[in-house]
Amino acid sequence: MRQVTTVGVIGLGTMGAGIVEVFARGGLDVIGVETTEELAERGRGILQASTDRAVAKGRLDEAGQQDILGRVTITTRMEDLAPADLVVEAVPEVMDLKHQVFSTLDGIVGQDAVLASNTSSLSITTIAARTAHPERVVGMHFFNPAPVLKLVEVITTVRTDEAVRDAVVELAERIGKKPVVVGDRAGFVANYLLFGYFVSALRMLEQGHVSREDLDTAMRVGAGLPMGPCTLMDLVGLDVCDHIGDVIYAHSRSPMHAPSAMLGRMVTAGLLGRKSGEGFYTYD
Ligand code: CAA
Repeated sequence: MRQVTTVGVIGLGTMGAGIVEVFARGGLDVIGVETTEELAERGRGILQASTDRAVAKGRLDEAGQQDILGRVTITTRMEDLAPADLVVEAVPEVMDLKHQVFSTLDGIVGQDAVLASNTSSLSITTIAARTAHPERVVGMHFFNPAPVLKLVEVITTVRTDEAVRDAVVELAERIGKKPVVVGDRAGFVANYLLFGYFVSALRMLEQGHVSREDLDTAMRVGAGLPMGPCTLMDLVGLDVCDHIGDVIYAHSRSPMHAPSAMLGRMVTAGLLGRKSGEGFYTYD
């Protein structure tokens, strides 16, 4: 395996832009790819705002910020990923789109480059199956907000090469993250359990058992979590929660993941959490 020094990130939404920042802070050269110049500009804006905040809080000096930004190239051309040793895909959670991205990548990057997906719940095995070299495909799942949360789930399939797994674990450690190696099942480990907890919380709300504020307080103050479940679902995005929940339930068929009608109605009504300004709570 070649040493990973240049990485690509495809999709510069909240997660993708956060992942770009994490790699650049870790001293790697990063090529970020978006589909349009407008989306590329949004990605640059997220990166700029996040590093501006770090400077304002005294966690980073201006030279350090310039260093980080100088290591990042943002482009709309997939071909610019040719020099990447590893590419992380962070495009929307649609399997056809993932297949399209991975098969395009097959024709661009070198034969020994690693292809990783940041998918929250889709099958890495299914993504890998349609690539030319499934042994180089893994999951590299970051958590929101990516610049803050240390966990990275490294998801292997029955085809993943052990050297590829080890290279991704080593890379995650090098950029200051805490990797865990997990098998390929819907929701992997963290989301499988987290979404069972979300569904239980939603049931309590549906039954009028507790108010959203008291539910959040109980888990924050009583269980020592940084946020209660309603605040956390608002952070993740209620549409994202609904979608991930559906994918996990489709595979697990476990009652602990059975979809919540209330969550579905909130999404239909446009209450998506922080990003839309309103979810369980309202935001400025
Ligand atoms: N980007 C970069 N930095 C951020 C940030 C962001 N979006 N949000 C917060 N931070 C930084 C702040 O700048 C601050 O840094 P300093 O301490 O150096 O000043 C630090 O994080 C703490 O932030 P705050 O003081 O504003 O607020 P907080 O202490 O309440 O922390 C939080 C905010 C980090 C989000 C914390 O509440 C938390 O960890 N919440 C739980 C998040 C969680 O569980 N995420 C997992 C979601 S599930 C998932 O992601 C998987 C999936 O596939 C869907």
